[in-house]
Amino acid sequence: PYAKNALAAHGMCEETLELHHDKHHQAYVTALNGLVEKNDALKGKSLEEIIKLSHGKADLAPVFNNAGQHWNHILFWKVMSPTAGGRIPGRLEKKIGEDLGGVQQFKDAFKAAAVGQFGSGWAWLVLAPDGKLKITKTPNGANPLATGEGKALLGCDVWEHSYYLDFRNRRPDYVQNWLDKIANYEFAEAQLG
Ligand code: FE2
Repeated sequence: PYAKNALAAHGMCEETLELHHDKHHQAYVTALNGLVEKNDALKGKSLEEIIKLSHGKADLAPVFNNAGQHWNHILFWKVMSPTAGGRIPGRLEKKIGEDLGGVQQFKDAFKAAAVGQFGSGWAWLVLAPDGKLKITKTPNGANPLATGEGKALLGCDVWEHSYYLDFRNRRPDYVQNWLDKIANYEFAEAQLG
């Protein structure tokens, strides 16, 4: 929903977005389309249905991985914004204070989840089924939709392809910058309903 150079001034360069969107995300879509084509049980199903029915099934692991990554990246493009500037709107800030102890505590916990995810994966801010905000992490292509941990308000990609050109091996710096300058908290607040 923005130009590929729109986040360059905020720490995510045009080449990162070009490779990430046009190559990595596209590869998941292409692979998933090929898998669905060969499996009649998946044809006509929504992306969400495919994720739920393939989760935890060894024979459908390639379907789950690619469907999960497609869903995760659709969200990822939306939870970033060139005009966000780290501003957290009032209703979300209040809920972060109530459920997570404050903005600093939220950022520290989110960063710890993102950095603590061993290998590839994602860090999430979710609205849990009990109505409270919660921070989670998932490996590879998994997500809170699949695990039932709640509705994703923010999802930060911590696969190396999302930060290696801009931050090299420094995942903590990528996540801190992402929270401070790139994350779209207005979108996150709107997901509260
Ligand atoms: Fe990615």
